[in-house]
Amino acid sequence: MEKEIDEKRQGTSLVLQEKEGNTKKLFIESYGCAMNFSDSEIVASILTEQGYNTTQKLEEADLVLVNTCSIRDKAEQTVRKRLEKYNAVKRSINPGMKVGVLGCMAERLKSQFLEEEKIVDMVVGPDAYKDLPNLLKEVEEGRDAINVILSKDETYGDISPVRLQSNGINAFVSITRGCDNMCTFCVVPFTRGRERSREPQSIIEEIQDLWNRGFKEVCLLGQNVDSYLWYGGGLKKDFDKASEIQKATAVDFSQLLEMCAVQFPKMRFRFSTSNPQDMHEEVLHVIAKYHNVCNYIHLPVQSGSTRILKEMNRQHTREEYMELVDKIKRIIPGCSISQDIITGFPTETEEDHQDTLSLMEYVEYDFGYMFAYSERPGTLAARKMEDDVPEADKMRRLQEIVDLQQKLSAQRTARFLNQTVEVLIEKESKKSDAHWSGRNSENVVTVFPKENYKPGDFVLVKVTDCTTATLIGEAVGYSEMQVN
Ligand code: SAH
Ligand code: F3S
Repeated sequence: MEKEIDEKRQGTSLVLQEKEGNTKKLFIESYGCAMNFSDSEIVASILTEQGYNTTQKLEEADLVLVNTCSIRDKAEQTVRKRLEKYNAVKRSINPGMKVGVLGCMAERLKSQFLEEEKIVDMVVGPDAYKDLPNLLKEVEEGRDAINVILSKDETYGDISPVRLQSNGINAFVSITRGCDNMCTFCVVPFTRGRERSREPQSIIEEIQDLWNRGFKEVCLLGQNVDSYLWYGGGLKKDFDKASEIQKATAVDFSQLLEMCAVQFPKMRFRFSTSNPQDMHEEVLHVIAKYHNVCNYIHLPVQSGSTRILKEMNRQHTREEYMELVDKIKRIIPGCSISQDIITGFPTETEEDHQDTLSLMEYVEYDFGYMFAYSERPGTLAARKMEDDVPEADKMRRLQEIVDLQQKLSAQRTARFLNQTVEVLIEKESKKSDAHWSGRNSENVVTVFPKENYKPGDFVLVKVTDCTTATLIGEAVGYSEMQVN
């Protein structure tokens, strides 16, 4: 679900925050992962208290904030283009406009940004959003402002995010920040800092608030949800130093997920992202046990070659990953599994690539998000390894895995034919105003005639047809999740 945001909501200006008496206008847009979209909701909440309402019109904004992504070079280029656009608007229409860069590019480039991009007035890293009021004061007084300090304990657990451009049905709730895994290709540990978990009570309170407001599905978010660990605060890596009491009362991801499932039996739960090396069997049992926890695991693999996995510092082999997949299929029959794969990592041979293809066949992934390797400055791979796979080979290999994924996805949608699936209605189908669109527990988009159903309803749908990505069917009634 998170990656869908990448493609479909990427960059859309977010609106819908109106507080009476607020006169200043904020235009905020987000690029990259779901965590960025979720962070923008925190930022909008902080700025609401500073007199800002959001606007969708760039031309009328007093403040423009862009929440940026550094994961691949292309993501950074997209943001640079947006800055050019802001610059044009500032010069021609709105000279008083101030521009701030948030998120991973802010963290990666720091003050370099202020030098390179003259349009930028403010640079704010992902852990510094609570400092925005002070930074804004600096900017209003005509000075550049920057805070890119990474934190040991900031989780924004005490801030109630405003739901920007929400359908009122699905929401993201972040549970961890940062990542300690240090995959050699990845910039995230540098831009988002060390891993820390959010207090369970504040997570439950946020979900309660969403429930009270009619939301029906929550996606628990983290770079690596499986390593969620609350022991009273502090970094995950410092857990060893915790007291005996802290250790005895610590809450891990399977416990958190179970708490959510039990406390909110009519709320549907998803989570993203899982990391093969940190996923424990207990999580699988929680998914299997609770109807309201979706049968869907996003389980990035990156490569099917043990040698490349080692070079990437992924802490598992091809075989261990396959064993985990076997376990998932045994404990949660029919569970949907999706992947992230990178082609053309340094030293990747044709044989390594074939290993990736054969692993995909083995797992029969339902979906996938596939990328050509993009060298990121400062990462271990960039420092120690030459980006030596020719661009043409990277792209051909990428095409081969994309084609294979398409074939596998088509097989997987076909398995739902003539079955009845439980769908949460999210919106009108893009292709027909006579149909609703939603997803089943396995995260497959399902469309069916509207009849008297409405968005937010949980409906049982008999599947009569399918495409490679979509199930088509007819509603046969409400499901046990429906609240009337
Ligand atoms: N654990 C994170 C992963 C974030 S990055 C999560 O929550 O999803 C998302 C994906 O981008 C990674 O799984 C990887 O497949 C891809 N990626 C990361 N760094 C990359 C790079 N340097 N080049 C190409 N793809 C990359
Ligand atoms: Fe990046 Fe690996 Fe963490 S892909 S976000 S370092 S799990």
